[in-house]
Amino acid sequence: MYAGRLRPTSSARGPQQPEMSGTNAVSGQKVKPFSVAGTAYARLLKPFLKVYFVHFSPVSSLALAMSLCVRKACGELPKLVELINRAYEGSYEFIPFSVESLEKEISRRGLVFLVAEQGETIVGCVGYWRNPRGTEIEWLAAFSDAVRDALVQEVEKDEEGEVFTAVDVDSPLMEFWVKRGYVAEEGLYHMTAKLDGVKPLPEVPAGTVLRSLKPGEEKLLVDVVNASYGWERLKEDHIARWKAEHPPFNEEWVHVAEVNGKIVSAVVSRPDTEYNKHFHAKRGYLGPAATLPDYRGKNLASALTRRAMNFLYEKGMDTVSLYTFEGNVPSITLLNKLGFKVQHHWKFMHKKRSG
Ligand SMILES: CC(C)(COP(=O)(O)OP(=O)(O)OC[C@H]1O[C@@H](n2cnc3c(N)ncnc32)[C@H](O)[C@@H]1OP(=O)(O)O)[C@@H](O)C(=O)NCCC(=O)NCCS
Repeated sequence: MYAGRLRPTSSARGPQQPEMSGTNAVSGQKVKPFSVAGTAYARLLKPFLKVYFVHFSPVSSLALAMSLCVRKACGELPKLVELINRAYEGSYEFIPFSVESLEKEISRRGLVFLVAEQGETIVGCVGYWRNPRGTEIEWLAAFSDAVRDALVQEVEKDEEGEVFTAVDVDSPLMEFWVKRGYVAEEGLYHMTAKLDGVKPLPEVPAGTVLRSLKPGEEKLLVDVVNASYGWERLKEDHIARWKAEHPPFNEEWVHVAEVNGKIVSAVVSRPDTEYNKHFHAKRGYLGPAATLPDYRGKNLASALTRRAMNFLYEKGMDTVSLYTFEGNVPSITLLNKLGFKVQHHWKFMHKKRSG
């Protein structure tokens, strides 16, 4: 994430919402081992669970004409996978989940899943997690406004502060969120650029050294990035995690600018691993990118971004991608200069909870 957003994840993708229902039940709860037994356990619990009377548009009320029960998912992971993959099928660069990849995503983010049940059938689910910016609804797989409302209402109920979600700017769902009192605050771009050769670097002030990070300099990188973002964008174990998740990534893939022996700017590059695996592509990925405030406007991030693009090209990549906020003028300015184009645009829809 060039801009350092707490992803969507890959998931900040509005569902395409094919209308359907009457599927059988299976799903999964945060960090707890998943088992088929959960389903029986869920049924035992049902009398004590929340019951919703359908009170939305006449058609869905009539169609649903029975109570919706919303509860925590327990031991029903395959069902979550089925619902999410169906709801997000065909959405922008969506990579379908397997039980293993969703399990990993749940533990990586601390995702909580709720399911909506109608009779014995699970008809929808919502996945959310708490991060420094509030409670983020990451996945909403439901096939009617009535079910969506019941699920989102349950997430909101327990949350203090902000609840937010990312929605495709052209998604038919935008109306659903606005009706629920969500307001579009800022937006996120997914941008890409072609890599078609090694290009000269933008000029930087004399004496500036542009190089790769050296092993043992992790803390220097983390300090520069977090001081530039103004919050904990990187943790000390990030390099180790990138090495594990994005081979052949290592310190050489991190590009830094040094002034008088001090690292003052950095751009991290790596393979766009999940995307390349699923779409059989050779795409690189950039982010985070950061320059300490006192060193901005001197072409440092521009030069390091070009250095990273040349590096990825020499590693055999033919395109490069990143995310950046629509309001980040310096970033958009330098990215446009380097040939990046917006491929997709999400809006973050926020709702402030009175708590
Ligand atoms: C974004 C960031 C990395 C840019 O670093 P930098 O080293 O100052 O970038 P550069 O000097 O290479 O390029 C910045 C460009 O934005 C332009 N710019 C900067 N502030 C601007 C503003 N308020 N309005 C218009 N243009 C602006 C600069 O003029 C420059 O364009 P130019 O080369 O045509 O003059 C830095 O601002 C930063 O660390 N921000 C905080 C963390 C962050 O948002 N990182 C994610 C980036 S997506």
